[in-house]
Amino acid sequence: MSYQFPPQIIEALQQAKHIMALTGAGTSAESGVPTFRDAQTGLWAQYDPQELATPDAWARNPQLVWEWYTWRRNLVAEARPNAGHYALAKMAQHANQFTLVTQNIDNLHQEAGSSNVIELHGNLRRIKGANSGCVYPNWEAFTGSPPQEPVSGEYMRPDVVWFGEILPEVQLLSAIEASQACDVYLLIGTSSLVHPAASLVVNALRNQATVIEINPNPTPITEYATYAIPHPSGEILPALVTAVWG
Ligand code: APR
Repeated sequence: MSYQFPPQIIEALQQAKHIMALTGAGTSAESGVPTFRDAQTGLWAQYDPQELATPDAWARNPQLVWEWYTWRRNLVAEARPNAGHYALAKMAQHANQFTLVTQNIDNLHQEAGSSNVIELHGNLRRIKGANSGCVYPNWEAFTGSPPQEPVSGEYMRPDVVWFGEILPEVQLLSAIEASQACDVYLLIGTSSLVHPAASLVVNALRNQATVIEINPNPTPITEYATYAIPHPSGEILPALVTAVWG
């Protein structure tokens, strides 16, 4: 990797009181998990993810939606955290205060050792009652497509946020608080197209935080970032942690 970190980035991270990181699907790209807007493959190539991840799609055809998420779960099941995930877990150990907020539902941050991960869009490993919202820690305990809750008979759905649904309140409030309090904001592997996650950075910019975007491609935020590093996060993050903390 040929990127040289400007000394100001090193200094900002070394002196940071509170670092916040917001991650998106690009953070898991080097783990082989297709980003959300990557072309879908095989059977699912004919579907637009934004059409399947909706309450309407679930109401119309719960079996199709469930099978799509089973396909995504199996994709993720083979994935392992990459060096970027591990670097963020390491960063948390060095920083005075560190808040990791993710839009990803693949659980890879947790598998890399990150704790207190704020999951804005849920987690593919968990399922919940479609009506009761009662959450279960894993899929494996249930059969059926979609499975039904043994007592109430209600369908079980993935514990993820669909388009048009509200985000989990506690997680969103924690993310907003951190975006208002942090003095360094890392924006990693996200197209910054989906709100409210995408607008959290506005709070950081408003507070003159140092905003560092890590993304090989430009996004609507790139021109506002203090620094934009056009490289894959799996390469940049380990190098950044080493450059800042040795
Ligand atoms: N390192 C860093 N960034 C990368 C890498 C990489 N190796 N590979 C791709 N990217 C970038 C892409 O350039 C793109 O900007 O990751 C971003 C992925 O964007 P999306 O696929 O739109 O994913 P994301 O931003 O996480 O989507 C946000 O929208 O679709 C909903 O709920 C879904 O959580 C998702 C949310």
